[in-house]
Amino acid sequence: MSTIEDVKPVPVTIGGVRGGPAVRTLRRDPWWKSPAITFVVLTLFVAYTVWAVFQNADYFVGISQHRDLISPLYSPCIVGSCLPGAHGTFLVLHWWMITPALIGLSGPALFRSTCYYYRKAYYRAFWQSPPGCAVADGHKRYTGETRFPLILQNIHRYAWYVAIGWNVILTIDAVMAYRLPGDGGIGVSVGSLVLTANAVALWLYSLSCHACRHVTGGHVNEFSRTPIRHRLWKAVSRLNAIHMQFAWISLFVVVIADAYVRMVAAGWFTDPKLF
Ligand code: FES
Repeated sequence: MSTIEDVKPVPVTIGGVRGGPAVRTLRRDPWWKSPAITFVVLTLFVAYTVWAVFQNADYFVGISQHRDLISPLYSPCIVGSCLPGAHGTFLVLHWWMITPALIGLSGPALFRSTCYYYRKAYYRAFWQSPPGCAVADGHKRYTGETRFPLILQNIHRYAWYVAIGWNVILTIDAVMAYRLPGDGGIGVSVGSLVLTANAVALWLYSLSCHACRHVTGGHVNEFSRTPIRHRLWKAVSRLNAIHMQFAWISLFVVVIADAYVRMVAAGWFTDPKLF
């Protein structure tokens, strides 16, 4: 078995490519697995989302099926071209849009694409910058996030507030999903549980965000003087430790919620009422 000492030393050039010009990495572990899996999963997610967004149909299950279920990709549905009954808010813009999902997706996409965790994941998987710790960059130059367009990633801390607004809307959607119009008023169906799981996953993802940790504990010099903020910061910090898990879980749940509403709306099956 060879050890790191057996490997011929690689000269290090100040300002040179990490890992040396000829040796990409000295790592022997399967470091490429994680970026490869990320590449496949994120590619599938983006492909599904683009497909779903441009369907512009089957995103709402309404009174004809005694339900009030809207896909999270299409909420809030506030343009004139929304399906009848899908307007879930007081604000209705009387525009025509190629698909209302362009509004529904805008806030979450801004938040998710600038997330510190996802940045790490997609810089490694897609940009190869770098593909892994102690692995040479796929690019000759490294400018980090100091220039356009990547400098725009710094808006993440503001995107957090946008995401909170979206969470409120999607939570209202989840609550409304317990309305079973024309079928006894209120009740619990699989669809209402799916939309609830989506709202819960999104809250956990946003509350575990690094920006939320800063909101709760930032600019505090002495926690002893701000016990409530200290408590909040400790709770958020506990969630923050598993932010990556929440990032993936919430991503999968959004897809499941959209697919579920889509299949019920398309008439593949009816949403089972549990009680
Ligand atoms: S760091 Fe991931 S959502 Fe903020």
